[in-house]
Amino acid sequence: MRFHITSGSLAIFQGDGIILGLFEGDKKIDNTIAVIDKNLGGTIKKMIVSGEIKGKLNEVTILHACGKLPINKIAVVGLGTPNKFTVDRIRQTIAESCRALRKSGAKRIATGLIGLEIKTIKPDTIAQMIAEGALLGLYGFKKYQTKQEEQSQIEDFTIITSDKKIIPMIEQGIKQGEIIAKAVNVTRDLVNEPAGVMTPTELANRTKRLAQQVGLEIKIIGQPEMKNLGMGALLGVAQGSQQPPRFIILRYWGAGKKSIIPPLGIIGKGVTFDSGGISIKPSSDMDEMKSDMAGAAAVIGTMVAIAQLKPKINITALAPATENLPSGTAFKPGDILKAMNGKTIEILSTDAEGRLILADAICYAKQMGLSPIIDVATLTSACIVALGAYCTGAFTNNQALLNKLKVTSQQAGEYIWQLPMFEEYGEMDKSNIADIKNLGGKGAGAITAAKFLEFFVEDTPWVHFDIAPTAYVSKGETEKHYRLRGATGVMVRTLVNYIMAENNRTEK
Ligand code: BES
Ligand code: ZN
Ligand code: ZN
Repeated sequence: MRFHITSGSLAIFQGDGIILGLFEGDKKIDNTIAVIDKNLGGTIKKMIVSGEIKGKLNEVTILHACGKLPINKIAVVGLGTPNKFTVDRIRQTIAESCRALRKSGAKRIATGLIGLEIKTIKPDTIAQMIAEGALLGLYGFKKYQTKQEEQSQIEDFTIITSDKKIIPMIEQGIKQGEIIAKAVNVTRDLVNEPAGVMTPTELANRTKRLAQQVGLEIKIIGQPEMKNLGMGALLGVAQGSQQPPRFIILRYWGAGKKSIIPPLGIIGKGVTFDSGGISIKPSSDMDEMKSDMAGAAAVIGTMVAIAQLKPKINITALAPATENLPSGTAFKPGDILKAMNGKTIEILSTDAEGRLILADAICYAKQMGLSPIIDVATLTSACIVALGAYCTGAFTNNQALLNKLKVTSQQAGEYIWQLPMFEEYGEMDKSNIADIKNLGGKGAGAITAAKFLEFFVEDTPWVHFDIAPTAYVSKGETEKHYRLRGATGVMVRTLVNYIMAENNRTEK
């Protein structure tokens, strides 16, 4: 899909379809709609009065222009009530209307700057949200369907403005949106790939290719070097699998290698398939455990975006990657593993493997001098119990850092919610025979997992995101706006926004 900008009016756009946004409760329609509706002979007005179009959030009504306009279809999309409007609702409504127009066969479509009348949102932000909404909403993972559905694709998307002066701003916004949304889709592609394909080696190879494309430094650590480094926790998880583990390191040097400011460290859990190991999971929905590398994919996607957005900050991404399988060589409940920093871990469940591989990654990050550290992991089903499907769990030893991320997550349209880290929860991880155990106890499973990570983080400023709730939209769930079945690419936008906000802070 290509984006374009023109100055003028939606009423004279030559193409297949246009998108019109309508706020809920709007009695009088705004100018753009009024001009188009005049050509249509007042159809839209009539449908609003009769209550057929209410402006309810994400509700799309497709109208035929019947030769009265130089286009075929008009998508009227509800924006919800003005006082609840957010930037994310631009993404959502554009995603929803793009899909409706695609279904109706449109290839060339246009929109105005949705929500511009809410004076607080700047035109470049609106343009960015439009680009993100379109690319995220039209995403699909169809490579394994040999009989391709006959679906037309939207090829051209034009943003139309009456104000020539803001065209460069809109251009800039579209560019940012394209980079970010495409990076989210890179993450989704990595996660949606079946585990039989997306082995640790394949994840490393694809990351290598991505790094070459965008110009990132990459290093892949294999088993021999892991042994030398003493990554006993990662190796312990990996020992049940025929597939060798990989430790992926991506580095971006926006501030130059001589900078005295420590690089930001972002770490992603990369379990390419989590069967639970010897503590094997029930078979229902086990297929979705191919998504247990969504954290790794998120930090990789983030780096892909960053390499193109070029902030003046140094960032290193770490992704420990392994399978977790039962076999004659697998690690067992009761085993004791030694992490890279020498700390010992009593294994009570081989299914609590994420925290183990993250422990070694955190040790490695600390040895590299990365600070702060942000990790992203599909860590616990307890977090799903706590927050359901719409919100990521957040944990920290540094409130100021998490506060900044709360702001950027809001712009990203990604809900996060903080859970407590009282010391008592850490005591639940104490072991009788090792330094710590990998199972907390009754209750607070998401927090005891976070406390386990903190045991390795020590006092480095750190935030942990448990994306088990949000990384993947399961089979039973309904799809809406850009929230489609399969991988969501969650946290790429929050992390990218955070990094760009930090960049603005340091530039000032
Ligand atoms: N990968 C899972 C967590 C998960 C569950 C992610 C469902 C996405 C959807 C993780 O490795 C795991 O199995 N955690 C266990 C930990 C428990 C044994 C302490 C869990 O949460 O059940
Ligand atoms: Zn597990
Ligand atoms: Zn797991």
